[in-house]
Amino acid sequence: MTSSLWAPFTAMRPFNRAPMLFDRAAGMHYTTTDGRQVLDAMAGLWCVNAGHGQARIVEAIREAAGRLDFVSSFKMSHPAALTLADRLVASAPDGLDKVFFTNSGSEAVDTALKIARAYHQARGDCRRTKLIGRAKGYHGMGFGGLSVSGIGRQKRDFGPLLGDVAHLPLPYDAGSRFSHGQPEQGVQYADALLHLLEIHDPATVAAVIVEPVTGSGGVYAPPLGYLQRLRELCDRHGVLLIFDEVITGFGRVGHSFAAQAFGVTPDLMTLAKGLTNGAVPMGGVLVSGAVYEAFMQGPEQAIELMHGYTYSAHPLACAAGLATLEVHQELGINAHVQQIAPLWQTTALALREQPLVLDVRAIGLLCAVELKPRDGAPGARAAEVAQRCFDAGVLVRASGENIVLSPPLILDQEQLALIFHTLAQALEATR
Ligand SMILES: Cc1ncc(COP(=O)(O)O)c(C=O)c1O
Repeated sequence: MTSSLWAPFTAMRPFNRAPMLFDRAAGMHYTTTDGRQVLDAMAGLWCVNAGHGQARIVEAIREAAGRLDFVSSFKMSHPAALTLADRLVASAPDGLDKVFFTNSGSEAVDTALKIARAYHQARGDCRRTKLIGRAKGYHGMGFGGLSVSGIGRQKRDFGPLLGDVAHLPLPYDAGSRFSHGQPEQGVQYADALLHLLEIHDPATVAAVIVEPVTGSGGVYAPPLGYLQRLRELCDRHGVLLIFDEVITGFGRVGHSFAAQAFGVTPDLMTLAKGLTNGAVPMGGVLVSGAVYEAFMQGPEQAIELMHGYTYSAHPLACAAGLATLEVHQELGINAHVQQIAPLWQTTALALREQPLVLDVRAIGLLCAVELKPRDGAPGARAAEVAQRCFDAGVLVRASGENIVLSPPLILDQEQLALIFHTLAQALEATR
């Protein structure tokens, strides 16, 4: 079947020969167009944290669409935008006091990078323009996010990207294999920031951006003390710290945000995905009061931040966001993740006995199972394992040599067992 669709991150020729098509979703499951039930071990794409088709979210979107289909966010707004901003701030670490809404994680990242540079400008510190990302970081597909990302293959065809960017190493080595939770070794990787600051002159650096847990790059949790050390070094040198919580936000590691799980508060935090349970596109940036206040100078009538999107704080997205926060509260999702995560992690770690498995990394309800690459065919083994799982009724994600799991956070023990049993069987059947 060939259609006019050009799909993102997709090999179009095989897709056109055999497209994987879904018709509906409810709870933990998708139904394919040919009527097969598939257990969703990806939460859509790390986003449907409260499970599919949550009635309260569906109803809120319906109601909003019928009442206020659209209103500009430039120079005006609507009550749900104000309330959602307040509720997000209430659920965030102390000090993150303002929210700027976007439509995606990529836009949230580009917005955060622009706010970081503009913050220094607003304070008259015009030399601070450099940005520091990290190896294997994924920050979306805008030119800003791509520039600070640490996955070379994704940048290859699109240069030149932003100049003035440097990267920290991934805080991981073979000694941290088969870790669950935060690895005990590796705090020293944070000191690489000192070296970068020396090379680049600390007075020229605007911000450091990291995912608290590397997500798309292969699920790497921060070593104990690592984020604290980054925070200290940023503070010492006047550099802003940005956490990209597009994946880790909204319960994925058992707290509203990973910042709370790890006890480190950034200056800016990007959100998307779980914010609306994936039901309506939306992203946002939580901003510290201090950063915001630096902009609130100058003539009252002047726009302080020349930035925004037509669909920032879209009424349907705000309705979905508010309902999502209520559903999280009602279902006690953070507590559920904290309760089930130890079983998730030990069951995941049991896969280390499989001969094809090079590493297993698990934290919260996230997991990557890294496979030994097949000679001359990078990624082929993981793709084959993912296909076998799908054929057996479980949707997992193949990403490079990794099988990545990030199920909806309403996962129960039986579903957990089924995911790992199916994966183990697929691994056994693969050469
Ligand atoms: C950490 C992180 N940041 C940003 C993005 C980009 O989000 P979006 O695809 O909504 O633009 C993603 C997407 O996976 C992500 O994982």
